[in-house]
Amino acid sequence: MARYYLTTAIDYVNNRPHLGTAYEKIAADIIARYHRLIGDDVRLVMGNDEHSQNVFKRAKEQGLDPLVYCDRMEGEFREVWQRLGIAFDDFIRTTEPRHKAAVQAMVQRSFESGDIYEGVYEGWYCVSCEEFKPEKSLIDGLCPVHRTKPDWIKEKNYFFKLSKYRDALLAHYAAHPEFVEPESRRNEMLSLLKGGLEDISVSRAGQAWGIPLPFDPGNVVYVWYDALINYAAAVGYGSNADMFATWWAQADQPARNVTHLVGKDITRFHCVVWPAMLMSAGLPLPTAIFGHGWVTFKGEKMSKSLGTVVDPLDAAGRLGPDPLRLFLAKEIVFGGDGDFSWDRFEEKYNADLANNLGNLVSRVTSMVHRYRQGALQVSAAATDLEARAAECVAAYRRDMDALHLEAALAAVFQFADTVNEYIALKRPWALAKNQQAAELDAVLWNAVEAVRIIAVLLSPVMPSSSAEILRRVGVPEADALAPSIHDSRDDSRFTINGARTVLQRDALWPRLESKETVVSENPNPEPNQVPKAPAPQAKSPEPQAKAPEPVEPQASSTPEQPVSLWPMESRVSIEDFLKIDLRVAKILSAERVPKSKKLMKLSIDLGSEQRTLVAGIAEAYEPEQLVGRHVAIVANLKPATLMGIESNGMVLAASPEGGKPMLVSFDTPPAPGTRVR
Ligand code: MSP
Repeated sequence: MARYYLTTAIDYVNNRPHLGTAYEKIAADIIARYHRLIGDDVRLVMGNDEHSQNVFKRAKEQGLDPLVYCDRMEGEFREVWQRLGIAFDDFIRTTEPRHKAAVQAMVQRSFESGDIYEGVYEGWYCVSCEEFKPEKSLIDGLCPVHRTKPDWIKEKNYFFKLSKYRDALLAHYAAHPEFVEPESRRNEMLSLLKGGLEDISVSRAGQAWGIPLPFDPGNVVYVWYDALINYAAAVGYGSNADMFATWWAQADQPARNVTHLVGKDITRFHCVVWPAMLMSAGLPLPTAIFGHGWVTFKGEKMSKSLGTVVDPLDAAGRLGPDPLRLFLAKEIVFGGDGDFSWDRFEEKYNADLANNLGNLVSRVTSMVHRYRQGALQVSAAATDLEARAAECVAAYRRDMDALHLEAALAAVFQFADTVNEYIALKRPWALAKNQQAAELDAVLWNAVEAVRIIAVLLSPVMPSSSAEILRRVGVPEADALAPSIHDSRDDSRFTINGARTVLQRDALWPRLESKETVVSENPNPEPNQVPKAPAPQAKSPEPQAKAPEPVEPQASSTPEQPVSLWPMESRVSIEDFLKIDLRVAKILSAERVPKSKKLMKLSIDLGSEQRTLVAGIAEAYEPEQLVGRHVAIVANLKPATLMGIESNGMVLAASPEGGKPMLVSFDTPPAPGTRVR
């Protein structure tokens, strides 16, 4: 078991959280929950940064004492985090006594070791950034971030000998490649260090809002110097030596992991200034600092003046906190920038949740009800599906450990696709019709177990939805996450906790209908009739009537209400369809794959390139029948290896029940590469 101490940046409280600041906290919560899931001893700390001049100003504008204002804001922040499902272990404020004690202890220590000295600062200061700005960093005399003219100040300041630590920092970077992530940020920091460091101001004169310097109380500690120390203060530096030893100071423990998660705009403070402060105070450095990217809104930086701020509670209120968490973690490559738009959020909700996962849960639970009245016995594992689960768990663990959140989630949703395919292939409805009871039991058991594994893997991202899925597939709450994923081999086994009582409930994520769809269903709407999307549930709904969608073709459909094979809930949008790039290809050569009855290796011409692909058509065609023929292929399919051959694409063929495949063909051969729609 490792000890994992994770922190986020602490937020300025002059404004409420927006989707960008919330993104960081959601990501941290996902990482922390994942580490709890794999059995680590985790401490997630978040908090508020209160000693900024902007905070002081905002309090005064509201006619409030700054501390009273900060108390109110703490309440607002905590409420937002709670409504987004964020489960931190501690919340620190920079006005707390424990923080003040830590700041004064650390500043005093550096002062005594000669790293803090008195001087005069004359230059620019941007209050919005809370940063001293070198002349060369300004653009047309303005702060490049805020486009405002900084203040010119001349005041007595204490300086920290940052320059002294340049070589030690470079040595640390060289010895610890994981110290700054992702690599692009590490390279940025390295070039900054190589360019040389100047000493920095660490105090402000003539201000009352801040922590007084212990050796010159007429001055307060500069807000950034103050804020960075929160990471040590929150685990007891200056107030609780035992706790500090447990979470921070035991540098040599191999299992120690202290990770700071911060935005890319503040990496310099965290990757250069903070480690130098720790070196000066004789303390071990964090294990890693991860600089995540920006969440933009329609391509714009979130800014109040541009009207591009998204309230995270609006977003969570629209489709639920779990779908929002999934969207942010899955659709943004962690470490890069990513855009939020309402359309895309809804589109992904429909694709991943309503259609894919939600439909899978509904299908599986309602089949267990229809065929087994909800009661399921343990059956033998389907080896193929179990092996795919093991692959999924391994990929997920590897990617979560490397903080590739989006890749880990993609692996889980690919596995959900696999389970849907497994059901389509096994046709449980046909097994029921033919009274193949044992086979039907096994298919249902395997599908339920696969859903359980998906829910466990998604639990860090969608905690309440996963708990609800586990409840529906009959995993008692106490056991739900107990078979944690320490050992991927064991966890992906389809044998957790025996017989099940499966619950059938309403759709977890009702599909949102686009305006066009709703109108086309009702060609003569009343004037002013506004098509309405169903209100999806964010959390576990109470037991309700039957699941709404048919799960498989049903024999007993009435003439008035034929049951469609393609219920509305499972249909894809034109946008989803167009993601599949179908093209005309000409077959250049064909040969049977040795030791396979079905597979044929094809070399094809796509107009712009030639490729190899493997198609399951060898029982229907001879190689010589194929060469020169024009076929339709899926051109943008990820490669797959079949019998040791990498296949790049898939040939389209009709697959008659019990018959041989028939290639899709054309009246006259179009040019290779022509798009098929
Ligand atoms: N108070 C400082 C941090 C001190 S940490 C010792 C601060 N506060 S902040 O409120 O401005 O930002 C808090 C965090 O949110 C920072 O990590 C910042 O990078 C991040 N983000 C602010 N806007 C963001 C986006 N639009 N997108 C993603 N993260 C964003 O900086």
